[in-house]
Amino acid sequence: MQTKFNYLIIGGGIAAYKTLDLIRRLRDMHVSVRAILTDGGAQFITPLSVASLTGEKVYTDLFSLTDETEMGHIRLSRDADLVLVAPATANLIAKIASGRADDLASTTLLAANKPVMVCPSMNVEMWLKPSTRRNIMQLEADGVTVVGPASGDLACGEFGEGRLAEINDIILAVKRSLGVGNLPLNGRRALVTAGPTHEAIDPVRYIANRSSGKQGYAISGALHRLGAETLLISGPTNLGTPEGVERLDITSADEMLAAAEAALPVDVAICVAAVSDWKPKHLSCQKIKKGSKPMLIDLLENPDILRQLSRARNNRPNLVIGFAAETNQVLENAKAKLLAKKCDWIVANNVSLETGILGGDQTEVHLLTSDKVESWPVMSKQKMAARLAESVAKYFTLQAS
Ligand code: C5P
Repeated sequence: MQTKFNYLIIGGGIAAYKTLDLIRRLRDMHVSVRAILTDGGAQFITPLSVASLTGEKVYTDLFSLTDETEMGHIRLSRDADLVLVAPATANLIAKIASGRADDLASTTLLAANKPVMVCPSMNVEMWLKPSTRRNIMQLEADGVTVVGPASGDLACGEFGEGRLAEINDIILAVKRSLGVGNLPLNGRRALVTAGPTHEAIDPVRYIANRSSGKQGYAISGALHRLGAETLLISGPTNLGTPEGVERLDITSADEMLAAAEAALPVDVAICVAAVSDWKPKHLSCQKIKKGSKPMLIDLLENPDILRQLSRARNNRPNLVIGFAAETNQVLENAKAKLLAKKCDWIVANNVSLETGILGGDQTEVHLLTSDKVESWPVMSKQKMAARLAESVAKYFTLQAS
């Protein structure tokens, strides 16, 4: 296996000791690790213990003449395939978000031209502070991958979000980013529908809706990153295809259904598309002229793709997931939808205009399965996609065990 190179920046948090295990696991995967220890990090673990595990010199000082002649802080960032920050303290996150470069770690991060992944670890109040929330959103908008934090008992004695993500989850994210090792959805086929459909009235007019397709696109990318062979069946959008995903463009609900059925068998189908509920009964071949009478269009109900996939007699996907975009009584309506459509999971969200979810970058969802409801906090659509893909992976891992 080709050796990948990983820079590990160890920040000053109590969770720094966990990075010793992280280094060992990365080395087991044939990933070379070169570590930078911040001043804070060095309060928790010693350069000697890090060097013993990485088998490399540990870098600590921006103005070290020896280091500059040996390596130089710019080259330090250039050799990496991935720059991983674990634990990432609130201070280090703030520095990355604002582009500060006042020590070796922050300077290396600013100079990096490779993917950056941060694993936050801090007290729950620090994590929830609006300033940290803003910084995290800035990092995500800048393309930084944020892994965790997890929820649970914190070193300070409090409870809540802020624990360093489980080492297993960090390893999974690194594997995904570096493209090494086995991924949990390897060998699985996934189908995702996304975007709006356009239902033609005449050659120039159609019925559509405000769906941007962002959520479905993000989910297809997240499934692919976990190793699934992923087909994205997309209505008209302005989005680029996520890396590694196969995309099939369609226009109407009928075309979307035909494409979805032709794609079977798949292991998981996720219907994110905002399929138009109706289509004009008659398609006019010519542009309809304005007249003196009121214009009436007869509408027919469109096929329900989610329902059809959920009820398929042959080749029903092992896991069928629908979305419920509601403007009121979100959970009640979503539960009813889960039963009516016979899908396995429903992701419910409130798309009232004031939430800004429809067309926006943030979302807040509830995941409903037959026996439980998980309410997830507000997060970016990318992050929600990653979390949903992880849930899908866990489902298949449990099924296989
Ligand atoms: O019934 P409603 O449109 O609220 O259901 C939403 C869910 O059903 C979404 O997952 C959507 O992708 C799917 N759906 C579908 N085909 C339709 C209507 C909705 O796949 N015609």
